[in-house]
Amino acid sequence: MIDQYQRKIEYVRISLTDRCNLRCRYCMPAAGIEKLRHEDILTFAEILRIVQALAALGVRKVRLTGGEPLVRRGIVELVRAIRAVPGIEQVVLTTNGVLLAELAEPLVAAGLSGVNISLDTLRPDVFASITRRPLYPQVEEGIAKLRALGMESIKFNCVPIAGVNEEEIPALVALAREQAVKVRFIELMPIGCAYEVGYQGVAMAKVRSLIECAYGPLKPAGLKDGTVNGPAVYYRLAGFKGEVGFIDAMEHKFCASCNRVRLTAEGFLKLCLNAKTGLDIRQLLRSGISDDNLRLAVQQAIYHKPEEHFFDDEHNDARDSRAMVQVGG
Ligand code: GTP
Ligand code: 5AD
Ligand code: SF4
Repeated sequence: MIDQYQRKIEYVRISLTDRCNLRCRYCMPAAGIEKLRHEDILTFAEILRIVQALAALGVRKVRLTGGEPLVRRGIVELVRAIRAVPGIEQVVLTTNGVLLAELAEPLVAAGLSGVNISLDTLRPDVFASITRRPLYPQVEEGIAKLRALGMESIKFNCVPIAGVNEEEIPALVALAREQAVKVRFIELMPIGCAYEVGYQGVAMAKVRSLIECAYGPLKPAGLKDGTVNGPAVYYRLAGFKGEVGFIDAMEHKFCASCNRVRLTAEGFLKLCLNAKTGLDIRQLLRSGISDDNLRLAVQQAIYHKPEEHFFDDEHNDARDSRAMVQVGG
């Protein structure tokens, strides 16, 4: 499926819930965010119908997100069912890792082929401070479990924050020395409470120079053929089995090569991370739309995907300023 700017859309991010078992300061206020009502969230049957429509239009990769997707009951069965939809080649997950220790094994058995884990720090005290929950040991256990299972794709996501986890950047990169994992640094985006809590991101140029000081030059890794990639740009370091990635949505807009759409937990097809435009699929499903008409409606909506995000344009009415936890990241 090609949109009006000639972008090929083959990746959908599906948010399974707006709930989360952490309270990362850049994402949520301490008290949490007003939660969706149960009946407003898509059922698994509804999600599957939408995946079928998207797959028929050329989507090959499904990433499950949240909130925290692992808090949604039945996720293992959902992974198995999505994996079985004709056309879907990859089902992957973005998680904070807290529940991985218990769920990694059944998820892999159900066909999950990749996990992105939010890992801002390797220090339990810093973890507790950023996430407001003392759950670092659970995350560590979950990561160990994934490795033991031989999970083919593991990526770590770190948001560098000045004065909080900045000095751990080389230690986080070191995770990619012995293991073929990807360690990615994400620029703090003006979403949710990122700036309200007084956090300041670290410029990606600085992150790179800290890494190069510790480990030598970063060499572009290039893209692997046939994979459906996200916005990260990857580099290699001499002597490392894994790679280092950068996601700098603000400094380097990657919208021109965007290949994705999003489905929020309440069934809204979002066409860009921070744009309000999209399609209320839940309403269509619950008013009895046929499969053919659903496919047509989705196709038309995707065609009108916005050209780029509005992070720099605070006053644009089309901008969606909800937190990552509400829109699925
Ligand atoms: P893969 O490359 O498929 O592994 O996925 P990903 O990097 O897109 O997924 P992940 O859920 O790990 O997201 C990492 C970070 O990238 C999060 O902070 C996302 O919010 C951000 N991100 C993902 N997609 C987009 C996008 O389309 N636009 C912007 N601005 N940020 C994005
Ligand atoms: N800016 C950048 N990344 C963010 N994430 C959550 N909120 C923000 C923000 N404001 C990250 C999480 C997680 C990923 C899915 O999104 O740290 O790794
Ligand atoms: Fe939960 Fe992710 Fe938000 Fe942290 S960033 S509170 S793990 S949704």
